[in-house]
Amino acid sequence: MLRLSKILNKKVVKALSRAFPEEALAADINGETLDAQLVPASKPEFGDFQINGALQLAKLLNQSPQKIAAAIVEQLQNDREFSTMFKPPEIAGPGFINITLNNRCLEAEVTQHLQDERLGVPLVNPSPETKEGSRIVIDFSSPNIAKEMHVGHLRSTIIGDSLARILEFRGHQVLRLNHLGDWGTQFGMLISYLKLVAPEALATANAVDLGDLVNFYRQAKQRFDEDECFQTTSREEVINLQSGDPIALQAWELLCNQSRKEFQQIYDKLDIRITERGESFYNQYLEGVIKDLDANGILVNDQGAKCIFLEGITGKNGKPFPMIIQKSDGGFNYATTDLAAIRYRFNSLPNGDEAQRLIYVTDAGQANHFKGIFQIAKRANWIPNGGLLEHVPFGLVHGEDGKKLKTRSGDTVRLRDLLDEAINRAESDLRHRLEEEGREESAAFIKHVSNTVGIAAIKYADLSQNRMTNYQFSFDKMLALQGNTAPYLLYALVRIAGITRKGGDISHSTDKLQFSEPQEWCLIRELLKFDEVIIEVEEQLLPNRLCSYLFGLSQVFNRFYDQVPVLKADEPNRGCRLTLCKLTADTLQLGMNLLGLPTLERM
Ligand code: ARG
Repeated sequence: MLRLSKILNKKVVKALSRAFPEEALAADINGETLDAQLVPASKPEFGDFQINGALQLAKLLNQSPQKIAAAIVEQLQNDREFSTMFKPPEIAGPGFINITLNNRCLEAEVTQHLQDERLGVPLVNPSPETKEGSRIVIDFSSPNIAKEMHVGHLRSTIIGDSLARILEFRGHQVLRLNHLGDWGTQFGMLISYLKLVAPEALATANAVDLGDLVNFYRQAKQRFDEDECFQTTSREEVINLQSGDPIALQAWELLCNQSRKEFQQIYDKLDIRITERGESFYNQYLEGVIKDLDANGILVNDQGAKCIFLEGITGKNGKPFPMIIQKSDGGFNYATTDLAAIRYRFNSLPNGDEAQRLIYVTDAGQANHFKGIFQIAKRANWIPNGGLLEHVPFGLVHGEDGKKLKTRSGDTVRLRDLLDEAINRAESDLRHRLEEEGREESAAFIKHVSNTVGIAAIKYADLSQNRMTNYQFSFDKMLALQGNTAPYLLYALVRIAGITRKGGDISHSTDKLQFSEPQEWCLIRELLKFDEVIIEVEEQLLPNRLCSYLFGLSQVFNRFYDQVPVLKADEPNRGCRLTLCKLTADTLQLGMNLLGLPTLERM
């Protein structure tokens, strides 16, 4: 209803200034406006919109709220167009005004949406210089080489991808970046260790798989902690790598490729597009960061290390926390690379392509890290006018026992196994259902449906939670056909698609839609909320809002379909109701696309 609420808002502003011309003028001179506080109705019985401002205006205008409300209503009713769109407004309680769309207006709005593939969602206002939305970097997924991608990365991947889709749909230019952990001291350990125990891994591709690498990494770390001599060789190996030694570089590249291949398999399964620009990319800019910070006078020498004392962020001793930018041995940190990345993303992308907004999707545990580097970026003057830095945090994934998700043997769960298990369980659920229904389906069908349901279930289980809360990973819950789950939504979509298929051609009915049943109006009002929900998700970066909306919409649809005849109704009702089915299917489909959920024709 964004379009309608915009029109209404203009009318309300006008009505208020006509009702109180002198006061409106006076406010205007002071650079203010009288605010009528127009908002969507908080309950269906209040209509579609409410004007709440009369109470607060009472003092300013020196009149009772009821009188103010009556004056606004009178002016609204003088507006001829207003009366064609809305029912006569009602004044309620101490001076609230309830406004309800009239049926013809709702019907016209449905007709508009049927012809609009964006379903009412506007493109962002073109900015005058670029004529396009803002340039946004979303930094998400970002697993680490030679380590398994874990459930934290899974959350980042799923949430980041859906936010990217929504921002892209709104017309922003989105650059999806994978800030892969592909640099740093761990490579020194790993390369030294492999030289000792599996030199072939450093010279030939595919000699080891990621599972082996992860084990080698663990052993290397242990050796590092115990063996001083090994520490020295490891440090030397890091220096070799950083100074571009060809053998070290080749080994590093082999290790990266091995992990990369595994990560890609997961991205393929999840249908994720992302551009790799790992930590190593910023290596060439690290010195520049130090110089810049030094020139800005914020770098402090602390026992040989270069650090910055953060303002307003204290360490354990209650004193400003020192963020180490360069260690005493000359090495750089995770934070240094992130600083280089901010500076680069804001200032030095080629052909004036600098980002205007940087969004980081990581677990909430990194909140202080981001607070720190954002503060430093600000103090270093790297943030352009209007530039935005945002950390989008999320909570932990717990197992059904309420503790950190682990395998039965106590190991961290591998993502690949997690996805496979969801797919396998979806398959056995499906086979069970087919047997119950006495249905025969091809192997290809079973494979396709299980894959889609399994992946959608995993994604939706994550997206449907407020990202800030920890969530409990449960295959049983996420795969259930009932409740706020992906299978429920997929099933609603399949069901509606089936109905519209049976309904045949309904193009004739769209010219003159007419409705009469309360269930129809209820569904229409729900359908018309889609655009507002998308804007809200964009503003708050909370995909769970869209999930609840789609779930609610499916429920309202099911009630409509259970209580009002559709295929068996007479014309013109039949055609009109079928168009509501079609619009519901389109809305679910678009909403699910924006969440990155795959959909099905049949299941
Ligand atoms: N590799 C990091 C991790 O596994 C996440 C990186 C997030 N992005 C960033 N620019 N720091 O925790």
